[in-house]
Amino acid sequence: MKTLVVCYSLEGTTKEIAVEMAQAVPADLLELRPEKPYPKKGAVKYLVGGFDAFIKKDTPIQKIDKDPQEYDLVILGTPVWAGRPAPPMMRFMKENSLKGKMVGLFCTHQGAPGKTLDILKRNADQADVKAAWSVHTKEASLDLMKEEAGKWITQIAEK
Ligand SMILES: Cc1cc2nc3c(=O)[nH]c(=O)nc-3n(C[C@H](O)[C@H](O)[C@H](O)COP(=O)(O)O)c2cc1C
Repeated sequence: MKTLVVCYSLEGTTKEIAVEMAQAVPADLLELRPEKPYPKKGAVKYLVGGFDAFIKKDTPIQKIDKDPQEYDLVILGTPVWAGRPAPPMMRFMKENSLKGKMVGLFCTHQGAPGKTLDILKRNADQADVKAAWSVHTKEASLDLMKEEAGKWITQIAEK
């Protein structure tokens, strides 16, 4: 099964999990990059990213070099920002049809995922969503989460 793992990650956690998934299956990896990077440090990080997520900002992303339509299974991973998917992932979903694709959704967060998975599911309504996983990053070590990530994607790929 041809598989693509798409992620956006500001601080690296979502990407580490996505990389683990891509290695486990194996799959191609596509990391989304905003045209203007979000700040990574201090309070401004929460203010800018949180505000953009809250107002549902249509954040432009850099041109991508992979076409999700060429894959059987597409996995999407995003951090939770203000209880929602990060804007670069929303932009990707707006620009790329997942119609007819098998899809797996995951988000990483520190305890309050809010509506993130519901929003991702709603935006993938023409896809066949096989699984949705909310990864609480304070609950277990990153190594354990990476182990779980490998099992999670393997199960979807075998469905
Ligand atoms: C702008 C911003 C908003 C956030 N909002 C939430 C939130 O609403 N709920 C939550 O549990 N964690 C929130 N977090 C924490 C991140 O979701 C969490 O640390 C995530 O794993 C980071 O992923 P990354 O390392 O791939 O960027 C927020 C972090 C940032 C930077």
